[in-house]
Amino acid sequence: MLRSSEGVSALTSGTMPIVSEPRADLDLSGLQAGFTWGAATAAFQIEGGATGRGRSIWDRFCEEPGRVVDASDGLVACDHVNRYRPDVALLADLGVDAYRFSISWPRVQPGGRGPLSAQGLAFYDRLVDELLAAGIHPWVTLYHWDLPEELQNIGGGWAGRGIVDAFTDYAVAVHSALGDRVRFWATLNEPWCSAWLGHGSGVHAPGIRNHARGARAAHHLLLAHGRATAAMRSQAPADHRLGIVLNLAPVGVDPRATPTEAAGLDRAVRRVDAIHNRWWLDALFTGRYPDDAYDLLEPHLDGVVSAEDLAEIGESVDFLGVNYYNDTLLAPADPPRRDDEGEYPGTGEAKLADPLPGATAMGWPITPDGLRRILLRITHDYPSAPPLVVTENGSAWSDPPEALAVDGPVPDPQRVDYLEAHLRALAQAAAEGADVRGYFAWSLMDNFEWAWGYTQRFGLVHIDYATLERRPRTSFITYRDIISATRPPTLS
Ligand code: FCB
Repeated sequence: MLRSSEGVSALTSGTMPIVSEPRADLDLSGLQAGFTWGAATAAFQIEGGATGRGRSIWDRFCEEPGRVVDASDGLVACDHVNRYRPDVALLADLGVDAYRFSISWPRVQPGGRGPLSAQGLAFYDRLVDELLAAGIHPWVTLYHWDLPEELQNIGGGWAGRGIVDAFTDYAVAVHSALGDRVRFWATLNEPWCSAWLGHGSGVHAPGIRNHARGARAAHHLLLAHGRATAAMRSQAPADHRLGIVLNLAPVGVDPRATPTEAAGLDRAVRRVDAIHNRWWLDALFTGRYPDDAYDLLEPHLDGVVSAEDLAEIGESVDFLGVNYYNDTLLAPADPPRRDDEGEYPGTGEAKLADPLPGATAMGWPITPDGLRRILLRITHDYPSAPPLVVTENGSAWSDPPEALAVDGPVPDPQRVDYLEAHLRALAQAAAEGADVRGYFAWSLMDNFEWAWGYTQRFGLVHIDYATLERRPRTSFITYRDIISATRPPTLS
């Protein structure tokens, strides 16, 4: 049983002791012994080093005017390819057990086919070795959205079935190359985003608005996951742990909606839940797509789904990664849209609610209890689901100039509050029966936040993009203290 610090801990920076606030009420006793603490990043968001890799759909998307709010790109990002050693030192200082990062497909296999690039792979060899030397488990995500551009141009990317074998070959090759040292593997990060932000709303690369392509992508992503998992499993030692990462969230109604508006959103709430949550969970853990979502998408799928596909998708996994940021809150679309005009088929009457008071800099509501509820829902509704790991959770805030002027960690009280509230909800879910084995903070450092460019900062570590200097924030100190307080005492 774990219990967090009830006292005050200190980090000395210069001559000033930096103290974090007492957290007497942060009861983490629900978490299992051996719980994995981690931090997460993704390749395109931090690596830079673009001359050492092929192009991805995100490189092209960044070049298209109006796609990324600050017209930025991932060419340099946090320059992690050159600064991975100090970044691993930060992780060691944080005291995490594990670091979740993704492999850039176009770095290790430019063009998306053929032999792996020795130079590209060498970067991940060095990173993995550096992590292991620091006593940190590498958790690899094979696909965090940076599809080689050629696979988009030639086969239509995830909307075409050819992607399934291309991804499987890539996954097997990377698993063969790093599997002697990496035990934890996730195939995909948030396939809902790849399918529907990439092909429904078009706010992510490849920037397409076409329900048919979104629906096919949603199927091909799962099929690629299943096929790659089976292929990796057949060559994996018994201690490897293979999984997938989904972004899941309770779906509800904007609390400001009138009772009539709320009643009018019933259908949309069920449909968004079906496409956002159950499509993935049912296919993975019950062997079929949910009827309501399938009915909506079937006219667009053009017969691509077969019983054999569903059997492949149901390949067993060792963990389910859950990324959770906030509940999905719906409001009436104004003016109402036709069913074929929404982000998904059949949901034209609803839109995402406008930001609530107190929302994060992204405009996302703060709904920590949703983390507890989604973990318990998976536990109850999917008895065959594997152990759960929260693979991302975090919040974006801007730093006022006076915070940056402070000597020592950059104060970020809102990020600290968000972190503590979500850890409390996590421990509560565990106490109520969710088999949750780990938590990864998003993100180790500020980074390229997709269509938001560098305008949104999620880091425990602040990045000065002019100098690329890294500066821990107070949330880094808080998280470090929480982690260290949950360690079993050692002899002194
Ligand atoms: C998740 C993504 C991650 C990051 C966070 C804020 O959806 O997986 O890359 O952008 O949101």
